Amino acid sequence: MLSADEPELPEVDPTRPSIARVYDAFLGGKDNYEVDREVYRQALAIDPDAPLAARDLRDWLVRVVRFLAGTAGIDQFLDCGSGLPTAQNVHQVAQRTNPDVTVVYVDNDPVVAAHGRALLAENQSTHFLFADLRRPAEILQHPVVTKVLDFDRPLALMQCATIHHVLDEEGPAELMRAYIDALPSGSYVALSHFLDPGEGSEYRSLARRLEENLRRSVGSGECRTHERILSFLDGLEPIEPGLVPVVDWWPDGPPMKPLAPVQRLIAGAVARKP
Ligand SMILES: C[S@@+](CC[C@H](N)C(=O)[O-])C[C@H]1O[C@@H](n2cnc3c(N)ncnc32)[C@H](O)[C@@H]1O
Repeated sequence: MLSADEPELPEVDPTRPSIARVYDAFLGGKDNYEVDREVYRQALAIDPDAPLAARDLRDWLVRVVRFLAGTAGIDQFLDCGSGLPTAQNVHQVAQRTNPDVTVVYVDNDPVVAAHGRALLAENQSTHFLFADLRRPAEILQHPVVTKVLDFDRPLALMQCATIHHVLDEEGPAELMRAYIDALPSGSYVALSHFLDPGEGSEYRSLARRLEENLRRSVGSGECRTHERILSFLDGLEPIEPGLVPVVDWWPDGPPMKPLAPVQRLIAGAVARKP
């Protein structure tokens, strides 16, 4: 792991929830505080099936990385908003398929950064940047990124459960455009995002209540329409089956029970740059 990016990390504030730690609580992890678990409990009060959304997102990420490192032959990943390490991190999944895969993780949560630095220190092909994904130019020009990722060869940009934490006024489309413009032809973008099922949908009120809980606690968690999320992949070719609930994206097997409503409220797509 390169050590070019070792700025001092800001203090962790245990009195304010962070989305990385809240997500960890949803996944049953141990890297969260009472204040994060309170957000989790509030989500459970809205919908006892809420944890399925986090599990589906993580399972989808694993299937996507397996596909990208395997079938698609991608050996370099830029994983924005990587989250707290779980048993199935991007580098572990990808390097099982191809031990030579290089991964750069980016996150702006100090707890994620501390874990990232410690856990990844032994892995020469894995790097961590403590940076804000809303500043693509800084990330794309960072010495670690320019040194370890080869922008003359296809790579994968992962924006998994991140862009819904970028507010409209922060320009999610523009920042996605900046990343996509930098990618060479043959690259892939994986995007997962909270879905606004649209007016008239029986699931809309649930989406709104879950969105409101996240906005109130961590400041963001924007549900956006199918059309809007697809627009973040403008100029790319979505691969089959396009933007769908993540559980429907090449599942590992047949569904054993009907989908819970919350499972219809997270969509994911993988798209290729022509
Ligand atoms: C819900 S978690 C998703 C983790 C992982 N990508 C996944 O799909 O399992 C969102 C992650 O994005 C990070 N994040 C949110 N906004 C960010 C920003 N502006 N810059 C960097 N990371 C950000 C959070 O700290 C958190 O770790």
